[in-house]
Amino acid sequence: MHRLVCDCPPLDVNSLYVYLLLCEHFSQTCIVSEDDHGLNGMVTGYVPPGRPDVLFVWQVAVAARMRGQGLGRCMLLELCDRTGMEAIQYIETTVSPGNRASRSMFAGLAQSLNTECAEHPLFDAPLFGPGEHDAEPLLRIGPFGAHRQRGVPVD
Ligand SMILES: CC(C)(COP(=O)(O)OP(=O)(O)OC[C@H]1O[C@@H](n2cnc3c(N)ncnc32)[C@H](O)[C@@H]1OP(=O)(O)O)[C@@H](O)C(=O)NCCC(=O)NCCS
Repeated sequence: MHRLVCDCPPLDVNSLYVYLLLCEHFSQTCIVSEDDHGLNGMVTGYVPPGRPDVLFVWQVAVAARMRGQGLGRCMLLELCDRTGMEAIQYIETTVSPGNRASRSMFAGLAQSLNTECAEHPLFDAPLFGPGEHDAEPLLRIGPFGAHRQRGVPVD
């Protein structure tokens, strides 16, 4: 997972230890995809404390060779459909304004779930310190409600 993130700018590369912690403590809310060449996709996330109806998606990475085929959206839908995730009504994430692929992926996800994708300010650029870092507004997708399509394949 650490190597995949290294290969997927503009994602921030976190320490290898962080990815070990995610696998050890947050496996219910993380997912990976593999083929014969190895890991080709991952989503990491968690349920924020005190907000049991929210899945916060932290990082989504898809290997360059696999992009544009719906793998990102498919992994997100798989996570929502897992046993134990029935209470989830919203996906939240932050996406910089310039990340068109990521924004299209989350817009497509909202469409698949027949629900809304709203945007709100969250982390402004100065919060990331003096280096080059875009703002990270919040995207909130949901509620899923009765529209949630469990187990329906992504088209
Ligand atoms: C963002 C990312 C995870 C998307 O993965 P993916 O498997 O290609 O996603 P999907 O195929 O499910 O959806 C991508 C959508 O964006 C569109 N797209 C792809 N590249 C695009 C681009 N450069 N500009 C605009 N749209 C783009 C695709 O056509 C698709 O839209 P559609 O479903 O309407 O056809 C992948 O591009 C990636 O790993 N990028 C680098 C890391 C990153 O930015 N992660 C997200 C951080 S929030």
